[in-house]
Amino acid sequence: MFSTTTLALLALSSGFATLTAAQSVSGQGQTTRYWDCCKGSCAWTGKADVSAPITTCDIHDKPLTDANAASGCTSGGTAYMCSDQSPWAVNDTMAYGFAAVSIPGGTESSWCCACYELTFTSTAIAGKKMIVQATNTGADLASGQFDLAIPGGGVGIYNGCTDEWGAPASGWGAQYGGISSNTCSSFPSALQPGCNFRFGSFFEGADNPAVDYKQVTCPKALTDKTGCVRAGETPTGGDAASSSTAPAASSSAAAASSASSVKASSSSVAAVSASSASCVVQELLGQHLQVLFRCRLGQQCVIKKLLCQQL
Ligand SMILES: *[C@@H]1O[C@H](CO)[C@@H](O)[C@H](O)[C@H]1NC(C)=O
Repeated sequence: MFSTTTLALLALSSGFATLTAAQSVSGQGQTTRYWDCCKGSCAWTGKADVSAPITTCDIHDKPLTDANAASGCTSGGTAYMCSDQSPWAVNDTMAYGFAAVSIPGGTESSWCCACYELTFTSTAIAGKKMIVQATNTGADLASGQFDLAIPGGGVGIYNGCTDEWGAPASGWGAQYGGISSNTCSSFPSALQPGCNFRFGSFFEGADNPAVDYKQVTCPKALTDKTGCVRAGETPTGGDAASSSTAPAASSSAAAASSASSVKASSSSVAAVSASSASCVVQELLGQHLQVLFRCRLGQQCVIKKLLCQQL
């Protein structure tokens, strides 16, 4: 016989109830940063029920209308991340931006173009909030990881920045983590505001702060830039909070193809050593999700609790 507790755990691990209710998705997570210039995975058609996949740009940072254009990070590809999908501070305690995400119990169909309010819980910016729209994911992301799209944050696995902007061969700064001090004035002008965001009065140069996250209705200021709104969602707010630093890209057209490709994002989690100890395997919706302990250059493990805490 199963005990009540066991049954409850089975129900949880089957993905019942709140795990699938969009507005109740919440938890604790970890941020990292990246900017690889590549087409994000939510820019492909068929990833989720959305108004249009997220807008990508050509090599000259001009919006593309073909959602099937291959990523500039693959051979012959023409689609890159648009510079206006950079973060910005609304004021000293609230910011908006974009991220590659991996949400426990979800898939791209549940998180592509969804927005999450992050409340930072560590570093000098603890208590500040940032709302990000999910534009990408990554095979190298741990569950509950928000890889914030910040120019100069490191290219990670893939690098489109050398082709697109003439960045150094491994991107600006370290491949993982990017530049270590504010050298943003050497960046292409379109990327400078987003690069400066990291060192400004909102983010204060914080290094991969931890977060509490919860899904929220997207601000229009974010969906206006990506052109992507999830079905059933009406973005909040007007244009007042939108960035004054970068022009909004126009919507991409939804191309009629079911072709999709899981395009792994880069991540600024430092090179995950092969010896990283794996933690817990939990069965969710028939899939095994493995939470990995990932160690940052031999220092502290950045992703730890999450599912482990539940067991
Ligand atoms: C910052 O902006 C947010 C969102 O517009 C607003 O709710 C908040 O009150 C502002 N905070 C300050 C200190 O102005």
